[in-house]
Amino acid sequence: MKILLLGKNGQVGWELQRSLAPLGEVLALDRHSTTHCGDLSQPERLAQTVRDWRPDVIVNAAAHTAVDKAESEPDVARCLNATAPAALAQAAAEIGAWLVHYSTDYVFKGEGEQPWQEDDATGPLSLYGQTKLEGEQAIAASGCKHLIFRTSWVYAARGGNFAKTMLRLAGERERLTVIDDQHGAPTGADLIADVTAHAIRSAMQQPALGGLYHLVAAGETSWHGYASHVIAQARHIQPELGLKVTDIAPVPTTAFPTPAQRPLNSRLSTHKLQQAFGLVLPPWQQGVNRMLAEIL
Ligand SMILES: NC(=O)c1ccc[n+]([C@@H]2O[C@H](COP(=O)([O-])OP(=O)(O)OC[C@H]3O[C@@H](n4cnc5c(N)ncnc54)[C@H](OP(=O)(O)O)[C@@H]3O)[C@@H](O)[C@H]2O)c1
Repeated sequence: MKILLLGKNGQVGWELQRSLAPLGEVLALDRHSTTHCGDLSQPERLAQTVRDWRPDVIVNAAAHTAVDKAESEPDVARCLNATAPAALAQAAAEIGAWLVHYSTDYVFKGEGEQPWQEDDATGPLSLYGQTKLEGEQAIAASGCKHLIFRTSWVYAARGGNFAKTMLRLAGERERLTVIDDQHGAPTGADLIADVTAHAIRSAMQQPALGGLYHLVAAGETSWHGYASHVIAQARHIQPELGLKVTDIAPVPTTAFPTPAQRPLNSRLSTHKLQQAFGLVLPPWQQGVNRMLAEIL
């Protein structure tokens, strides 16, 4: 099997380099690759990469993920999140390849408390969410064989992440304020990459499995709950860290105004994915604890 991986150095892309390796020959590109174009800002050249290399599967882990910045550069965000996936989908349809793509909880408006199902009405609050939704829709409309995974609150041991920021602040300050009215599930890039590899194998054997799925770790929390867990777990793993923080205060989203509005309810139901692929998604704490054990 030939797999074209785009965005190889992102959180998910990096883990995909590992999880896709046993499936076959992987051509992993980033925007600077010179042998083939892997730059989402050049959709036509990207499509040409697909026509030239003729993969069986394209996995697109690249995206414009700077949620606040997207508000001030809508054309760039739309090109990367909608136009480029559309061009990939078109090229995939032409050569009969699968396209695997990632989307986000930010396609939802975020009202209520129930976990979102795949076919619930969308209503993005931000330009990032809107362009990611347009990417999903373009892929579905292209007629190519595809898997789209909507995920949320992605972290990885490599690079910066929310947990690392909280640990740094907890070492510097006695009091932290953290948002407690946005709810979702922190999801490890390693879990996303592993599920992707399983799903590709299953879908290649059973093409009817193609479609849109929610892929997040089990359980739910708020950013405040997430931060509290990270700090308690860090103290447990390494008491000698000497974290200063004594008060982790819950605050509403309105305490931290940002250019892009976030949904309050980012809970995603993973029932469809677990049923379709016979997988069990572990509780979010499991992956976070593992990541902390790696970075501390
Ligand atoms: N992070 C989250 O919390 C989250 C939540 C929900 C859904 N998602 C979705 O999950 C997927 C993976 O996200 P992630 O967390 O792995 O994101 P990430 O770590 O920000 O990685 C995104 C990758 O895209 C690359 N990229 C940016 N512009 C590009 C261009 N013009 N051409 C080619 N590559 C380009 C970046 O490369 P550079 O490093 O060179 O900029 C980076 O490697 C995305 O579809 C994202 O929308 C993420």
